[in-house]
Formats: sequence, structure tokens, C-alpha cells
Amino acid sequence: MEIILKNINKAGYSSSIKSYLKEGGYQALEKALNMSSEDIIKEIKKSKLVGRGGAAFPTGLKWEFAYKAKEHPKYVVCNADEGEPGTFKDRIILENDPHLLLEAMIICALTIGAKTGYIYIRGEYFKPHEVLKGAIEEAKKNNFLGKNILGSNFSFTINLYRGAGAYVCGEETALLDSLEGKKGQSRVKPPFPTFVGFENKPTVLNNVETFANIPQILANGGDWFSKIGSPRSPGTKLYCLSGDVNKPGVYELPTDITLKEIIEKYGLGVKGKLKAVLPGGVSSNLLTNKELNVTMDYPSVQEAGSMLGSGAVVVINDRHCIVDLAKRCAEFFDYESCGKCTPCREGTKRVREILVGITRGCGEFSDLELLGELQEVLYDTSRCGLGQAALNAVKSAIDKFPMEFKKHILNKKCGVNICPMREVNG
Ligand SMILES: Cc1cc2nc3c(=O)[nH]c(=O)nc-3n(C[C@H](O)[C@H](O)[C@H](O)COP(=O)(O)O)c2cc1C
Repeated sequence: MEIILKNINKAGYSSSIKSYLKEGGYQALEKALNMSSEDIIKEIKKSKLVGRGGAAFPTGLKWEFAYKAKEHPKYVVCNADEGEPGTFKDRIILENDPHLLLEAMIICALTIGAKTGYIYIRGEYFKPHEVLKGAIEEAKKNNFLGKNILGSNFSFTINLYRGAGAYVCGEETALLDSLEGKKGQSRVKPPFPTFVGFENKPTVLNNVETFANIPQILANGGDWFSKIGSPRSPGTKLYCLSGDVNKPGVYELPTDITLKEIIEKYGLGVKGKLKAVLPGGVSSNLLTNKELNVTMDYPSVQEAGSMLGSGAVVVINDRHCIVDLAKRCAEFFDYESCGKCTPCREGTKRVREILVGITRGCGEFSDLELLGELQEVLYDTSRCGLGQAALNAVKSAIDKFPMEFKKHILNKKCGVNICPMREVNG
């Protein structure tokens, strides 16, 4: 079952508007032009689509908030920053089916009453940027963008904006500050961007994959979509499978698939013996063999003690050291912390120092307690999701692999000889 990659996987399909039109592209926009905003929102709400960028917020509700907001102008922003390590799904859409995204953004603008849109694209995405630039020109030439779209009263333009490589700029409010030309640092929420967004005006900000579902939802109806996959969080999901599997890649699968099926059926099994899985990238808690039968929808992964996030499924085999993995996650968050709020700025640094110490053979048992406390403090007091999730992988590593930490601290030994243990062994 393919919704998002339906065109891309067809032989001979290219990113051109010609290919897109041949597959029925822009027909959903034509349909939307004859619908009221209320009816469009009704269909999206019926679909039960939730955001695919990580927070899983209901998309129909988000659009409704922005539509009902009194202030003008309104904006549509696409989050194409794709910064979570292990995530590489949006790129597939941007590079191969750019008009799918453009059509969805145009429908969104029509629905909420926006005249201007932005695509905030990851700076390293050179090819997708070029493809999108060409697609916007094609859409303009064919009157899908610009003034009086398809002879209607509705006008809309889309601008491209390149990020500069900061993970935090994928967080929606930091993205908006960066888009406004400021330093990319998160804002306090609430107010949420639907009410106070770009230039403090009502803004719908959605992930690329979220948008990519919209044309099909409008074409086939919300009820159709709501019956696909898991009833708790319907549709398909682009799962980015990486790490120690035989066939890594991006797989579009219905959300009632299990983690085990993704790894075994699509990834063709683990290289070596499975140790752990990060189901939603480095921001998520580790799962182990015990949770392999979890359904890969948003609520089920949460109930299993982790989070699906953007769907970055990273498989880790038993040749890796969990303490080293925790240290590397901590280094990432320390490096990427924007520094605006104290708990995240100072906390991520301290966490990295502690874990570097443990991997060098100078850890103490009290360090584990301290890491637990830091996890609570960062979760409760950090300004945005970066700090709040910074210790998920670390804390779950301690909880699920206590013996590995104990061996490093007590015996000064790394079971797989990855950690340097320099302080003790010279
Ligand atoms: C540190 C951090 C990084 C994020 N990076 C991304 C990203 O690269 N792409 C994305 O779509 N959402 C990212 N998000 C989630 C966004 O803040 C936001 O929830 C999402 O773009 C909203 O779109 P959606 O409702 O369609 O998911 C990130 C969140 C955090 C806290």
C-alpha cells in the first residue's frame, strides 16, 4: 500500500510536472478549489492524519486553528530540515516528487487563507533544493502558483529558504526564528505557531511527509485514509531503516506493521545478533528484543516506552557498546544544544562529561544516579524538545543495560573493547 511513494515507485516516473500531471497530479487542488475551507478541514480531520515530523499533532486540527485565527496575513511553512540522525525520508519526496509537496502546500494555503509559503530546507540538501527550485518554476508556468491560480481569486507563492545545519532549526519555533533571519533558537510555547508563527502571524507548519498525504486524502476522502493501517494512528509511514540490518532503506508501510516485521521482512534481518533499536532516532528510548512486537504507530510505540518521532529506526547489534552509544548520543545533544536555556546548555554538557568519564574508566556509581536526576531536570525544564529528549537514549540505556554500565564502572572493562578506558589502562 503506497500513498506517498505511489508515483516515485512507478517505472519511468520523473520529478517533472509532466510526470506528475500524467499520474493525476494537481487534481486534488482542482477539487479543493470547489470546496469550502470547512469541508477540506473536515476531510483531513476524518482521515485522523497526525504530523509525521515527530510530535504527532493532528493535522486537521492544526489547519483549523490557523483557518479560524483572526489575524492576517497567514503563512504556510514546510519543515524540510530533516535533521534527526537516522532520518532520510523527506529527501526522497523532495528529490523525486516535488509537485506532491507543492500541491499540498497550495491546498493548505487555500484552506487557511495564506498568500505566501516557505519551504525551509536542510542546507546539505543540494539536489533536492535544485529540484524544488525547478518545480516551483514549472508550477508557476502552469498557473498552479502565482496570481489567480487556475482562474480563481486565489493567489499564492512559495519561497525556498536554506538552513545552515543546526539540528535545533528543525524544531518549529527555532525554524521560524531562523526563517525570520534571526539566530535559530526556540521560542517559549504557548503561543503555538498556528496563532503566533512566522512574523508573529498565524502559520501552519508541517513536515514534508505530512503534507505529502494531503492530495490523496482529498482525492479519496478522509474515511478512506482512516481505514489504512492502525486505527489508532492511521495511514502509512515512511520508516527509515538503518544500522545493522541487511537491507537498509526507506520503506512506506501501513502503520499497523510491527517493528519485527520492518526489521525482518523489509530489512532482511539483523546483521549479527540484535541488541537494541532506536525506533525514532537518537531522541527516542531504546527498545530491545522484548518490545519487537510493538505496532509501529505513535501511541503503541509510546506505550512500549519510547517514541516513533520521525520514524528513524536505527538497529544496533551486539558488537556495539551501549555505554559508547549513550556517550555518542550525549555528544550529539551537547553539540547541538542552542544554548538559549540553561538546563539544556549546561545539562547536556554535564551529561557528556559524565559519559566520557565512564567510557574512560573513571566513572562512579553515583554518576548513574546523577544522570537519572539530570534526565528529570532536562525533561521538566528545558525550553524545547531538544533538551527534553536529550537523555531519552541515555536513560533507557542505563535502565535496560545496567550490567554494561556496572562493568565499565566497577571492572573498568568494555565488553566489546570499544571504549578507550585510558585513565585506568594507560
Ligand atoms: C530538536 C528538534 C528537531 C526537530 N527536527 C524536525 C525536522 O527536522 N523536521 C520536522 O518536520 N520536524 C522536526 N521537529 C518537529 C517540529 O518541531 C514540528 O513538530 C513539526 O515540524 C510539525 O510538523 P508536523 O505536525 O507535520 O509533524 C523537530 C523537533 C525538535 C524538538
